[in-house]
Amino acid sequence: MHRPTLVPNEEQSKPSMKSMSPIRHESDHSRRAPLLRRSLLLLGGGVLALSSVGTMFAMRTGGQVTIPTTSADFFEKGTQPQPDPELFDQILTSQNCTFCHSDYGIDVAPYDSWVTSMMGQSANDPVFLAALTIANQDANLAGMLCLRCHAPGAFIGGRTASGTTADFTTEDFDGINCNFCHRVVNPVLGAGSAIAYPTGPANPDNAIIASLVSQNLLPSGAGNARYVLDPQDNRRGPFSDVPQNLHGFSSSNNQVELITSPFHEKSEFCGTCHDVSNPAFSKNAKGQFVLNALGKPHPTDNPADMMPEQRTFSEWSISDFVNGVGYADHRFGGNDPDGVVSSCQDCHMPKVIAGGCVFYQYGEPWFERPDMPQHSFAGSNSWVIRALREQYGPEEADARGLTQERVDAASARNETMIANGSDMTLSQAGENLIVRVTNQTGHKLPTGYPEGRRVWVHVRFLNEKGVVVGEHGAYDALTATLDAESTKVYECRFGMSSAVAKAAKLPAGESFHLVLNNILLKDNRIPPRGVTNAELASIGAPVVGASYADGQYWDDSLFAIPDGATSAVVETYLQTSSREYMEFLRDANVTDTRGQVVHDLYTATGESAPVIMDTATISLVPTLLGDLNGDGAVNAQDIALLLNNWLGSGTGDLNNDGVVDASDLTIMLNAWTG
Ligand code: HEC
Ligand code: HEC
Ligand code: HEC
Ligand code: HEC
Ligand code: HEC
Repeated sequence: MHRPTLVPNEEQSKPSMKSMSPIRHESDHSRRAPLLRRSLLLLGGGVLALSSVGTMFAMRTGGQVTIPTTSADFFEKGTQPQPDPELFDQILTSQNCTFCHSDYGIDVAPYDSWVTSMMGQSANDPVFLAALTIANQDANLAGMLCLRCHAPGAFIGGRTASGTTADFTTEDFDGINCNFCHRVVNPVLGAGSAIAYPTGPANPDNAIIASLVSQNLLPSGAGNARYVLDPQDNRRGPFSDVPQNLHGFSSSNNQVELITSPFHEKSEFCGTCHDVSNPAFSKNAKGQFVLNALGKPHPTDNPADMMPEQRTFSEWSISDFVNGVGYADHRFGGNDPDGVVSSCQDCHMPKVIAGGCVFYQYGEPWFERPDMPQHSFAGSNSWVIRALREQYGPEEADARGLTQERVDAASARNETMIANGSDMTLSQAGENLIVRVTNQTGHKLPTGYPEGRRVWVHVRFLNEKGVVVGEHGAYDALTATLDAESTKVYECRFGMSSAVAKAAKLPAGESFHLVLNNILLKDNRIPPRGVTNAELASIGAPVVGASYADGQYWDDSLFAIPDGATSAVVETYLQTSSREYMEFLRDANVTDTRGQVVHDLYTATGESAPVIMDTATISLVPTLLGDLNGDGAVNAQDIALLLNNWLGSGTGDLNNDGVVDASDLTIMLNAWTG
């Protein structure tokens, strides 16, 4: 069985996976330190931030210290907070859109599917909120970066300066919403842009970009939520033939214009957030990520020089999907007739036959569209949506749009998406079963958030009577424990170098401390079609602890067939949150109850139950021990092969003791068929 060797790709620290426990328990007296005490300590960190790195860390109870980063360390270009509603229309909630964009089909109305998507719940997600607390414990104000992406309305409104949700209004929990997405402007304009220029009755993009350029705020490079927003509430969308604009006036009393935006149909739009890098680190000449001099923005401002955390957009950008990939079975793209998909939207916003607003049902001037992009954003995470309904209770959940019917529809869409994400084939090669998993997504499988997200192979060998005679990758649903040692797990693991560990007074090596991690320890996730190892390395998503040939978008795992097995039943599973990660969020929290809250929800809702990607069965041809040439008999030809390799290893070593000797000859003679 092929198991990856885990080799850290950095010299600065050589932690071994063995020595690293994924769960870090802080000593008990460190838990629940009084809030006042903690904030005083953090304040101390801020004051000390001007001294040199290494000597300036404020102590926290329990041993860990918070790295005294400042808001400057998490600064990103793009539109900055604009709390004045006279100068900048504030981000409206989805409630302002429901009158016309909801309740005309659970799978088609934008609101109905968006509200049960992870982006609709990005600021309520209990996993995110628990991780946000840890991020602020680990590095002062790191939460400012997180919230810029997960709660853009609050960021623009100027309510994320604490790095927490403390100053949020109720509206700020609306997540990545309608008004936000439909006000995003292509940051690359004119000759520099590969994307056609937006058109429409009013085109304020030039002035918006010019204003950012004059403030040195124009972002470059994908990711980190460096979005550029229209200060006026104009709605950008794909259509140029909207018969009548019903959007009225904005809060600053401007006519809301509809602007046809080709940018919204491009992956680059999603790439604004689906590449995440930690700006507190810089890449040095050896390719290692080292902590910056604190208190200043990232020295190069280039995401390629920052510690990579997610690279979904970049993975896509080097793949064959850029030019389109055809699927004979039309598994992606919805009502798109040709079966060829390219962008994130093609797969995650499949085309449906429906109206762009509720009025299409009444006819002229509104009409049904054959290509309305669904706002489901289906991916892999269903348990968090279910957990939110559980957390609110039925009545409040209904009021928040999370009706049982919509939650069920979202889970079903995710399950279909997951099933379409991979294909599995089984074959037998002598004494081995080969399980081939092929990545059918437009990025790595799995992609995105690395902590606790994984895909694995579960194999059961059965004998003639259907009794299990061998198992790999068993998952115990009661304890949420995966037997990872016996199988292949596709995942990404990060760790801390000894320098960072020393600064934070935490153990070096593998960890779930997202903002402190600066070493990639393992990434054996299956690449998408059409990528090379060099390209993967260049985008900060190298293969680590596995090997894929250039262009290989599948992976084979070998399992030795046990004696007596006549068939094998194999499944691949995807899980979004592992038990280890959930326990980490609970146990590492010394600030608030969010770690306990998410853990309670996790246990109450089936512990992020793994979802089946594929399942298949194969009948096995019995292999005869001693049948060295595979002709179905143990005879003189086999004995000749064995004697040829006498005292050698490999062929003829029937008892696997490393040498071909008399004991092997005895086994062969006992199995003699003539
Ligand atoms: C994550 C960003 C995002 C969010 C959130 C979002 N949209 Fe969209 N929306 C898009 C994109 C991108 C398109 C165009 C997709 C394409 O053409 O492939 C679109 C298209 C549309 C369209 C035109 C076609 C259609 O599907 O009807 C309408 C109307 C629309 N969105 C309304 C909404 C409403 C209402 C909400 C909130 C309930 C919302 N959007 C939330 C990104 C978003
Ligand atoms: C009073 C009804 C009404 C409300 C409220 C409303 N819309 Fe619309 N919207 C429409 C209609 C009608 C269309 C055109 C549908 C079509 O042509 O198929 C539309 C189309 C759109 C489009 C597509 C534009 C294009 O050119 O592709 C976007 C984007 C959009 N709305 C966003 C929003 C957002 C965001 C909100 C809430 C902040 C909102 N709408 C609230 C009626 C409304
Ligand atoms: C060819 C279709 C396809 C394209 C193109 C595609 N995806 Fe996916 N994506 C999938 C499928 C299928 C899944 C579900 C399987 C899975 O979880 O990996 C998925 C899962 C995801 C997830 C959940 C993380 C995970 O792996 O569980 C995210 C986030 C995501 N996609 C974002 C994107 C973004 C952003 C783009 C564009 C840069 C994109 N996708 C392009 C098919 C696609
Ligand atoms: C403002 C930043 C932002 C933009 C723009 C954005 N996303 Fe997201 N997306 C997020 C965040 C943050 C999450 C995760 C929320 C969570 O899990 O708490 C997410 C989650 C997702 C998921 C769900 C993954 C899962 O685990 O199931 C999919 C799919 C996805 N996005 C696709 C897209 C596509 C397609 C686009 C472009 C049309 C897009 N996103 C644009 C920030 C963004
Ligand atoms: C530039 C955008 C961006 C920034 C900044 C960002 N995230 Fe995310 N985050 C995402 C996206 C996109 C996903 C979804 C990917 C997926 O589903 O695989 C995500 C997913 C997550 C998840 C998984 C949620 C779940 O339910 O499984 C957690 C937890 C999380 N982020 C925490 C954080 C924290 C903590 C920070 C700050 C240190 C942060 N994020 C900063 C974009 C961002």
